[in-house]
Amino acid sequence: ALTPDLAGRHVVISAGGTREPLDPVRYLGNRSSGKQGYALARTAVARGARVTLVAANTALPDPAGAEVVPVGTARELQDAVVKAAIGADVVVMAAAVADFRPAHEVRSKIKKRDGVEPEPVALVRNPDILAQVAARHPARPPVVVGFAAETDDVLAGGRAKLARKGCDLLVVNQVGDGRAFGTEENEAVILEVGGPETPVPYGPKEALADRVWDAVARRLTTA
Ligand code: C5P
Repeated sequence: ALTPDLAGRHVVISAGGTREPLDPVRYLGNRSSGKQGYALARTAVARGARVTLVAANTALPDPAGAEVVPVGTARELQDAVVKAAIGADVVVMAAAVADFRPAHEVRSKIKKRDGVEPEPVALVRNPDILAQVAARHPARPPVVVGFAAETDDVLAGGRAKLARKGCDLLVVNQVGDGRAFGTEENEAVILEVGGPETPVPYGPKEALADRVWDAVARRLTTA
C-alpha cells in the first residue's frame, strides 16, 4: 500500500508462539512461526504506523522501523502487550498464546528412572490476553483485533469467538493439513462487529495483512 493511512497511529502486534516451561530444558509450545504477525508489522510500517511488535520465540529478521519486544511465556507476552497497549490506537493479537501452562515449573530437569512411570503433567489456564485488552475500559484501544485458527466449523466458530472475546475484528483461518502454520501463505475471512465478512483468498501473508489494515483504517476514521 502506498497510502500512509496509518500515519500517526501506534499499533501493537503480537506474533509467534508462547512456550510454557515444564522444567529448565522442556516446554509446552506450538507450531506458530510468527510469519503472519511479522507481515502485519512490515505492512503497518509501510502504511506509516508506529509499530511495537511483541515477538514470542520467533526466528525472523526484525522488521525495519518496528520496535521489537521479545518474550517467552504467555504471562511475559501479557505484560508486554498490556504495557504497550496504553495509549495505542490498535492492538492485533496474532500470536498463538498457550491456553494452558504446566501448573508447576520444576526447578531441575525431570529425570527418567528405570521401572518408574512418569508423573502426569498438571496444567492451569493462562490469562486470555485478547479478551483482557478488549475489556479494559476506559483505556481500551479503539481497535482490537484477534486471530482464530479453527480446524472445523470455521465461520460459525469465528462469529461466536468474535462476540466472546469482545474484539472489533477477528481474522479466522482454517488450520490443519499443513495449512497456515509455518507456511508463506494464508487464506482467511475477516469478521467485523457491525461490519462485512470479508473473505481473503489464498495468498501471501502480506496480502492478508493489508486487508486487515484496510479494515482497521476504516474503523479508525469512522470511530
Ligand atoms: O481462543 P483462541 O485461542 O482460539 O483465540 C485466539 C485469539 O486469542 C488470538 O488472537 C490469540 O492471540 C488470542 N489469545 C490470547 N490469550 C490466550 C489465548 C488466545 O490473547 N490465552
